[in-house]
Amino acid sequence: MSDAIILRYENGRVPRYTSYPTAPHFDAATGERDYRQWLARLVLDRPVSLYLHVPFCRDLCWYCGCHTKATHRDRPIVDYMADLRREIALVAGLLPGRARVAHVHWGGGTPSLIPAADLAETVALLRDRFDFAPDAEMAAEFDPRLVTPAVARAWAAAGANRASLGVQTFDLEVQEAINRVQPFEIVAAAVDSLRNAGIDRINLDLVYGLPHQTVEGCRRTVTESLRLQPDRLATFGYAHLPQRLRHQRLIDAEALPGSAERLRQWRAISEGLTAAGYVAIGLDHFARSDDPLALEQAGGRLRRNFQGYTDDDGAALLAFGASAIGALPEGYVQNVPALAAYASAVREGRTPTVRGKRLSSEDRLRRAVIERLMCDLQVDLATVDGIDAYAPDCNPWMLAVDRDLLRRLVGDGVAVIDGTRIEVVEAFRPLVRTVASAFDTYLDPAQALHAVAV
Ligand SMILES: C[S@@+](CC[C@H](N)C(=O)[O-])C[C@H]1O[C@@H](n2cnc3c(N)ncnc32)[C@H](O)[C@@H]1O
Ligand code: SF4
Repeated sequence: MSDAIILRYENGRVPRYTSYPTAPHFDAATGERDYRQWLARLVLDRPVSLYLHVPFCRDLCWYCGCHTKATHRDRPIVDYMADLRREIALVAGLLPGRARVAHVHWGGGTPSLIPAADLAETVALLRDRFDFAPDAEMAAEFDPRLVTPAVARAWAAAGANRASLGVQTFDLEVQEAINRVQPFEIVAAAVDSLRNAGIDRINLDLVYGLPHQTVEGCRRTVTESLRLQPDRLATFGYAHLPQRLRHQRLIDAEALPGSAERLRQWRAISEGLTAAGYVAIGLDHFARSDDPLALEQAGGRLRRNFQGYTDDDGAALLAFGASAIGALPEGYVQNVPALAAYASAVREGRTPTVRGKRLSSEDRLRRAVIERLMCDLQVDLATVDGIDAYAPDCNPWMLAVDRDLLRRLVGDGVAVIDGTRIEVVEAFRPLVRTVASAFDTYLDPAQALHAVAV
């Protein structure tokens, strides 16, 4: 019954709300001047978080939607790392003092391609410019095909203590159809190398909706993934946007599962993981019940940022590297994606900021509502800063931008509104973004920049 209703909304294209407003609504009027001011004004009484983007891979997987580039040589990566260090030194120098750091995330692309000496030099610079908390988390994304014992040891020596590995699927036919062949043994060997080196917090990424993928294949992938005993898993619906991403045109669109089949695949993964004791986190993550994500969710403190769900409660996210997006109390800033432009900016002592979004008080309020919905599947407006809970019209209807959508969702039993509270019914978890979108002032339903809802 719930599936038929979910599929009714499947054509709605909605953002994943890793920020609000979302990146397509950033503007070019926000740039370096704003970023310099925002950095100078940052209050450093709470730790900040760091994100470092490494936009290189050895080969492109055809499904990939990340900002990255294939290279078989180390030279471009070495040059890029020197530029990344320039940006780190520049930005650290613009802060009003030494910032404490509790979370570092290396994303990509494939950060595990960074040559060991460059990694060590970059982490030494970070430790020189920032005060790392003794229990600071350092996470990095790894391509399992490229994790050797030496790579794992280099990352452990650099301080990494969490690894995120792209599994996607263990189905060989699907792996071939997406140009990413990696048998179970390769992934298991990568996990062993990481654990032996002391990196024992393991996340796995799974994808459904890939060409030739089946429900049975998803069940097998879950069974195999569980053998690796990950702490967390993230499950993403394949976003097919060949108009924007040329390499996705290599994917046989005829072999892509339809929406009803995608939903069955999502259910197979979700049921397999929850039956094994994992707790569903927000839209698309799963964690062991003793994992910080599960504990933060139970306490209503889960957060959402560009990396997905997190227990990171930093005062700001300082982002380094081409295309990286940072979040400061005043708003968001994004670096230029093109590598040449990124390099010239930092070599000239300029921050490579090209777009961003200064937050209005209404943006902040809507951001808080959307973040709570995405994390907890519910929000009580009376608990949101900036909302007057005593106003006679304080209820989700008053705040909604698309009231027709909200009315339909409530009519279909997807969401329940009770006074100042709105809750997404558990059976409709895949529609949490659709519910959140009813409160988004920027969303133009006519534009198809985002992936489908399910
Ligand atoms: C930067 S990659 C992971 C690190 C490493 N490069 C790897 O592939 O193993 C981040 C994750 O995004 C997900 N992803 C990439 N492209 C996607 C797409 N088009 N649709 C849905 N998920 C996607 C995959 O699960 C992938 O593991
Ligand atoms: S999935 Fe990972 S390895 Fe494959 S192209 Fe994307 S970032 Fe690179």
